[in-house]
Amino acid sequence: MRKKLVAGNWKMFFTPPAAKKFAEEMKTKLDTPDVDAVLCVPYVSLQTVKDALAGSNVKVGAQNVHYMDEGAYTGEISCEMLASMGVPYVIIGHSERRERFGETDTTVNLKTLKALKHGIIPIICVGESQRQRRENRTANVLRKQIAFALDEISPKAMKNVVIAYEPIWAIGTGEVATLEQAEEACALIRKQIEERMGSEAAEDTRILYGGSVTPENAKALFAMPNIDGGLVGGASVKPSFEQVVRCE
Ligand code: PGA
Repeated sequence: MRKKLVAGNWKMFFTPPAAKKFAEEMKTKLDTPDVDAVLCVPYVSLQTVKDALAGSNVKVGAQNVHYMDEGAYTGEISCEMLASMGVPYVIIGHSERRERFGETDTTVNLKTLKALKHGIIPIICVGESQRQRRENRTANVLRKQIAFALDEISPKAMKNVVIAYEPIWAIGTGEVATLEQAEEACALIRKQIEERMGSEAAEDTRILYGGSVTPENAKALFAMPNIDGGLVGGASVKPSFEQVVRCE
């Protein structure tokens, strides 16, 4: 049985003092034995939030990472740096980074390999645009993104890999995918992992849905057979994130 995982993606919200306050208020509310809860916060708040969550099972995550170990990469952060801080999760290849910051399928793969090497669980984001869905290209887009992302990753490593299916048209728009659309895409991703790596790896991999998840729709989405939780943006910076995590 795969344990559910719900990760909040704070994006560029909360100053460190506001992050500390929110994490302190939420930590017992999000701490439930049934669900792994993660807060993916801006770099500047990683330590603060990690300290605020101490003593609970809620974990902190980063929203991006660089794939090089070190070097002249002004403004970047390495996996080694995150690992040395005890950051257990990192979001990789979010569509906002793919669209606005030049993230490619190749860098997603390099980052994933490096995160795994340092014992950090990558939350790899994939998903189609509105236009790609309209043109019936969703399956092909997902296939390509997954093939690149998982290149050279071993079947055994998949229990430490999380995939987030996030249709771009559903992110921050309030337009959530239907249960059928979300389940179909997540099932397709799992099938592809099975074809590449075998059924055990496919069964081990947690696949999340992301895109306008709210307390109102979370329970039904997370109850779908191939959806193991969510990656949650807007609803993760509100106190009602508790209801999303607890799938109430
Ligand atoms: P949203 O964002 O929940 O605000 O749609 C999801 C995400 O960007 O991961």
